[in-house]
This record gives sequence, structure tokens and C-alpha cells, in this order.
Amino acid sequence: LPNIAKENKIELYNTLGKYTIGLFHGEDNMVTNMAQFTSLLFYSLPDVSWVGFYLFEPEATDLLVLAPFQGKPACTRIPIGKGVCGTAAEKCEVLVVDDVSTFDGHIACDDDTKSEIVIPIMSNNKLYGVLDIDSAILNRFDEKDVKGLQFLMDMFVQHHF
Ligand code: SME
Repeated sequence: LPNIAKENKIELYNTLGKYTIGLFHGEDNMVTNMAQFTSLLFYSLPDVSWVGFYLFEPEATDLLVLAPFQGKPACTRIPIGKGVCGTAAEKCEVLVVDDVSTFDGHIACDDDTKSEIVIPIMSNNKLYGVLDIDSAILNRFDEKDVKGLQFLMDMFVQHHF
């Protein structure tokens, strides 16, 4: 895993890009790669308390369902439009919440969560789910995290969709 102490954010995301290529190389099972990817992020990004996927299931009446993750057990089903994840899914855009206590409708799976970022999984304008990352500190995620995580998500989408 990258030595985060020695890297700045941009370098860290570039390094994580290389690790991601390595993890996905020769492996096409999406559950496997989601599990590997969440582990990479959980153990490489500083100050994150939870990293995981929620997958969109059109058949299951507009619900996101918990998929591979790292961290404490979490809420399993999130309706589209509800919470940070469901709102990012509804809008199909990245959502950064600096202080979840000010986000109307935040779903508190873990009381320790203070800030959160959600990146939708989009391919050909179709939504497949979201990647959710939580932190126990306020204002954890900035524009560099948005760009870096979008860059990594693009790799995931290119590999699987
Ligand atoms: N807080 C999220 C729910 C998912 S958990 O944080 C893992 C939300 O409001 O969508």
C-alpha cells in the first residue's frame, strides 16, 4: 500500500490509480474487484471510517443495496432520493457533505460519521450505484478528493461496464 505520510493528495491518487490497475489486472469478477478496491481505499486514504459500494437495482423498486465495503456493518437498503447516497444517485452527481449533521435526511449508519463523499457509478448515462466514503472528521473531502476519486471510479467503470 502507498506510504501516505510521504505523499500529497494528488500524488496519492495517482499512486492509487497504479494500484487499482494492478488489482484489477486479469480479474473480471466485479464483486471481487469491488472488495479489493474498497480495501485499497480504506487502508490508503487518511481519516476515512467507512468505504463501500451501494448498487442500484432497478428491479428492486428504486433501492440502493449494500455491496462490498470496509468498515462497520452499515444500513443495507437506501431508497433513491434518501440520504446522501440516495441523493447523489438521484442527481447522478458527486456529492460532498462537509458536516452530515446539516444534511437534511442524512442516514446515520454510524454516529461517528462527520463528513461524507458519494461518487455515482455511471456508464453511458446509466446509473449502476454509488461509492460512499465516510470520515469521522468534519470537512474531510475537498475538490482534490472529488477529482481523485472520480479518476479511480472511471477506472472501475472502464473495467466493468
Ligand atoms: N450516511 C449515508 C448512508 C450510508 S452509510 O454512511 C454507510 C447516507 O446518508 O446516504
